[in-house]
Amino acid sequence: MIKKAILPVAGLGTRFLPASKSIPKEMVTVVDRPAIEYVVKEAIAAGIEQIILVTHSSKTSIENYFDRNFELETSLEQKKKFDLLKEITEILPAHVTVVSVRQAQPLGLGHAVLCAKDLVGNDAFAVLLPDVLVKDTNEKNDLSLMIQRFQQTQSAQIMVEAVPKHLVDQYGIVDVATLPAEGESVTMQGIVEKPDVADAPSNLSVVGRYILPAKIMQLLQQTPKGAGNEIQLTDAIALLQHTEQVEAYRMKGQTFDCGNKLGYLKAVLHYGVAHPTLGTEFKALIQELAL
Ligand code: G1P
Repeated sequence: MIKKAILPVAGLGTRFLPASKSIPKEMVTVVDRPAIEYVVKEAIAAGIEQIILVTHSSKTSIENYFDRNFELETSLEQKKKFDLLKEITEILPAHVTVVSVRQAQPLGLGHAVLCAKDLVGNDAFAVLLPDVLVKDTNEKNDLSLMIQRFQQTQSAQIMVEAVPKHLVDQYGIVDVATLPAEGESVTMQGIVEKPDVADAPSNLSVVGRYILPAKIMQLLQQTPKGAGNEIQLTDAIALLQHTEQVEAYRMKGQTFDCGNKLGYLKAVLHYGVAHPTLGTEFKALIQELAL
């Protein structure tokens, strides 16, 4: 069973300045909670029980958010604000733990994942990149379908979605013989990080959700610097393909890239209208603006 998920959160979020100048970009609010909470909840909905944050000294507010806050709880209790108390104490279910490890140098996503090597040990694990929010409307989310497929096939799963051709140079891009249906996986022939538009093997982009075997850690140790002069997870996955079948899983849900400002605003709109208590009024507000 896949019970551990690595969330690399050490990046400084320059694409999100000035919002991310003094708070982590992962702590920027989407509706009424930080963006990172949606990603953690997505992992938990897929059965993950241990969240491994690969983090940076400037980002302790992420760990604090998932920790208990005794002073705040006591104050809410004294003021009999029990709804709020319940809300802040139930951010994580009791069976889920959050641990963290530091990425001391910004050497790339592959290096960030490698920092969690001792924490994952011999277990296969998930990786979720927190810039991208994945909104699933199905009962089983995409990550849980990837985990299910991994359990059946033991093949690493890479979540992909189609992007406009001119954007392929911003993503990992996979090569497949046939386009999988949404919610299905096919054998990947290759994967390349941020190819030139002219050289891209397809327009299927790596979304930032992966199910990987423990062996990827040894491969990351051997992975030379690649695109952007960084150690790329994509390159280690390409190495894994030399010895094992790797599959591309085509997602059913919708993505919001909160690493860029418009993507973030789009997320606020979508999560806002879907919010259980604010949704109806928020929708009315949007309609008012559209007039
Ligand atoms: C990372 C990955 C890339 C993936 C992307 C998804 O790139 O390296 O393969 O497609 O996330 O958001 P980054 O956005 O960190 O440059």
